[in-house]
Amino acid sequence: MQRPRALLWVMLLAAWEAAWGQLRYSVPEEMPKGSFVGDVAKDLRLQLPELSHRGMRILNKGRTQYFALDGKTGHLVTAERIDREQLCRLVEKCALRCELIVEGEMQVYRIEVEITDINDNTPSFKEIELEERISEMTAPGSRFPLPDAHDPDSGRNSLQSYELSGDEHFSLAVQTGPGGDQRPELVLAKALDREEAAFHELVLRAMDGGDPARTGTARIRVTVLDANDNAPVFSQAEYTVRVPEDVSVGSTLLIVTATDADEGVNGHVEYSLKKVSDRTSNIFHLDSESGEISVFRILDYEEGDSYELEVQARDGGGLFDAAKVTIIVTDVNDNAPEISMRSALSEISEDAPSGTVVALLHVEDHDSGPNGEVRCSLDGDVPFRLENSHGSYYRVVTARELDREQVSEYNVTVRAADGGSPALQSSAVLALRVLDVNDNAPVFAEERYSARLAENNAAGALVLTVRATDADWGQNARVRYRLSEGRVRGAPLSSYVSVQAETGALYALRSLDYEQVRELRLWVRAEDGGAPALSSNVSVLLLVVDENDNAPQVLYPPPAALRAGSAAAFEVVPRSAEAGYLVAKVVAVDADAGRNAWLSYELVQASEPALFRVGLHSGEVRTARAVSERDAAKQRVVAVVKDHGQPALSATATLHVVLAESLQEALPELSDRDAVSELMSDVNLILVVSLSIVSLLFVSTVIFVFFFKFRQSRKPPIFITSDKELYSTLGSKAPYNYCSSTLPLPYSYEVCLASESGQKDFTFLRPGAAAVPAGLQSADPGSGTHTGQDPPSPGSSGKASSPLAVVVSHSSLSKRSFQAL
Ligand SMILES: *[C@@H]1O[C@H](CO)[C@@H](O)[C@H](O)[C@H]1NC(C)=O
Ligand SMILES: *[C@@H]1O[C@H](CO)[C@@H](O)[C@H](O)[C@H]1NC(C)=O
Repeated sequence: MQRPRALLWVMLLAAWEAAWGQLRYSVPEEMPKGSFVGDVAKDLRLQLPELSHRGMRILNKGRTQYFALDGKTGHLVTAERIDREQLCRLVEKCALRCELIVEGEMQVYRIEVEITDINDNTPSFKEIELEERISEMTAPGSRFPLPDAHDPDSGRNSLQSYELSGDEHFSLAVQTGPGGDQRPELVLAKALDREEAAFHELVLRAMDGGDPARTGTARIRVTVLDANDNAPVFSQAEYTVRVPEDVSVGSTLLIVTATDADEGVNGHVEYSLKKVSDRTSNIFHLDSESGEISVFRILDYEEGDSYELEVQARDGGGLFDAAKVTIIVTDVNDNAPEISMRSALSEISEDAPSGTVVALLHVEDHDSGPNGEVRCSLDGDVPFRLENSHGSYYRVVTARELDREQVSEYNVTVRAADGGSPALQSSAVLALRVLDVNDNAPVFAEERYSARLAENNAAGALVLTVRATDADWGQNARVRYRLSEGRVRGAPLSSYVSVQAETGALYALRSLDYEQVRELRLWVRAEDGGAPALSSNVSVLLLVVDENDNAPQVLYPPPAALRAGSAAAFEVVPRSAEAGYLVAKVVAVDADAGRNAWLSYELVQASEPALFRVGLHSGEVRTARAVSERDAAKQRVVAVVKDHGQPALSATATLHVVLAESLQEALPELSDRDAVSELMSDVNLILVVSLSIVSLLFVSTVIFVFFFKFRQSRKPPIFITSDKELYSTLGSKAPYNYCSSTLPLPYSYEVCLASESGQKDFTFLRPGAAAVPAGLQSADPGSGTHTGQDPPSPGSSGKASSPLAVVVSHSSLSKRSFQAL
């Protein structure tokens, strides 16, 4: 193309020259001022002097004076530095025209100066830093436009080629545009991988064809955009973790991790559980962000010993990985054995035989292995034992017979322990009440009871209370008291005493008289309410205590009341009697006992007080001094007989004494016949109940001899039968009493027993006689046959049932007294 164009220019120039006589020059741009352009003078064949005075001028077109003419040399020179790129930006051939006017000749010459290009510009890019973003997924061969460079020079000096350097992933392609311009393009030569290199630095060079060539560069930074080309990857394909079942809720079991090489959303991994049953999802919780698997609720080995989960890791681009998680639950001894009573008695009779089944219970432990092995036992020392019936069933049976009276209820504790370590245990209590059986008789608090009861008690007085307890329970322990049958003095015992059935209080039903009943022996029976009832007896002894309720009774001398209408008795004392002469003996009895019957005698009144004295205990009336002539013939002595009761009771005895040498002498002293008979009757009427057995053999023998002698020579003394009053006042017991307590022993008495009927049916008792008349013998208070109330049956004298009168006379006195009759 250049060559034809140049040729055209030559032809045109020649033509122009021919026609116009034009001058043509060329000069490179950017020449300094004054640089030579062409030798105008020579070319116009002008003489130099001519030239100078002909007045030659250069007339430039346009305002700027680019050229000037050097007058001396006739050379055309540059008047300015000329920049071709400035003068003719887009014009291929850049020429400046000017005219040379030769004034002398009036000639005009046209001069055309072509400005030729020099390589004074460098190709340049608009931006020297470029940023390119390319996805790593872009296919190789893809093209990306690059900015082109610019070089204002022309021709070879303008932009000629591009060059790319820096990275093997890229290459350069240059397209020629419609205007022939070059367009560089970036070609992806090799697939990118952001994960390998996220950035690529490239350098684009633009070169012109000058000599030397100039080069412009631009830096291109290729950023590789991430694509989701990496799936998450779990660190392990399978996770296995062992946890004890008692792991606390919320604790983390393990952390699954998956990594994704991508970045951003593509590299963001979320975890999820896949294919989980409801059951499992209730138990475990997977944190979607952290991958933590934690327990959501309490684990139970017995419920499930292992779990399999599938976890999935998914990135933002939807790529995923899955892994298997196996959670193995290990057993912990967290279950205590459970005891359940399947059936149980709440009551058992105390006579249930050994081996009676009381309860059936079931024991189980939800743990496994040794943790679930259960051993059962009973607590304490109880009369029960455990029997394994089968498997996990146990029976509680009685080991021996029970006794409600010892233990009335049991809390049997069944204990079950497993084999864990530490072992867990649990217990169940079996409450068992022992039912009563009437196996205990009432037992009296005392072995025997005795009580003392003062006589003359009020009827209904409480005597004592017996008490019996029964170890049984309820009705079986309800004790009732009853009096056993018996008789006292012919009357049923129940008329004397009664027992209150509920309380055991013993009451006297009537007033008791010691002189009649001295003691009561009875049995009280206690009986419980069982069926059959059990009972026991206890003996009760009631001792009647004497009270001083009987005054002493004077038997001799006969009391005045008994002598009513009859003569008084006299004692004859010889005037020759010395001091100490025994005048008489006051004989008194007291129906009471002990101190109440202990009598003492005192002289209270005497016509001649100094003459007599009375023995305090003996009752003997003796002369205190020798009788003198001055003493009156008739003397009266009053003695008082006192017992020792509290208060003491007393009686008086009046003794009439006649001081005479003989009874005949004394007779005048006795007022009349009546008096004598009265005396007789008084003497005979004295009824004595009690007789002291003469104890001293010596005395009785002497008396016996005397008695025998008198009996042969004399008629027996006449006894006057007693009247009823006397009889009744003494009672059948009297002789007994007198024998025991009242009469002093050194004296002997003649005793005559006479029946009341008045028949002369007397019996003498001789002192010391071995045989005691039946009547006396049977006068035992306990026999109860001789009561004062019982009327005598006629004709039965001498028999045990006959009331008897006993006459006692002082032998030494009666000898004299009766002689007088
Ligand atoms: C048995 O247990 C009950 C209730 O705990 C209690 O009232 C009772 O006293 C206990 N009996 C014995 C004999 O321990
Ligand atoms: C108790 O009394 C009953 C009837 O009186 C009698 O049969 C029984 O033998 C007595 N028992 C004793 C231990 O005295």
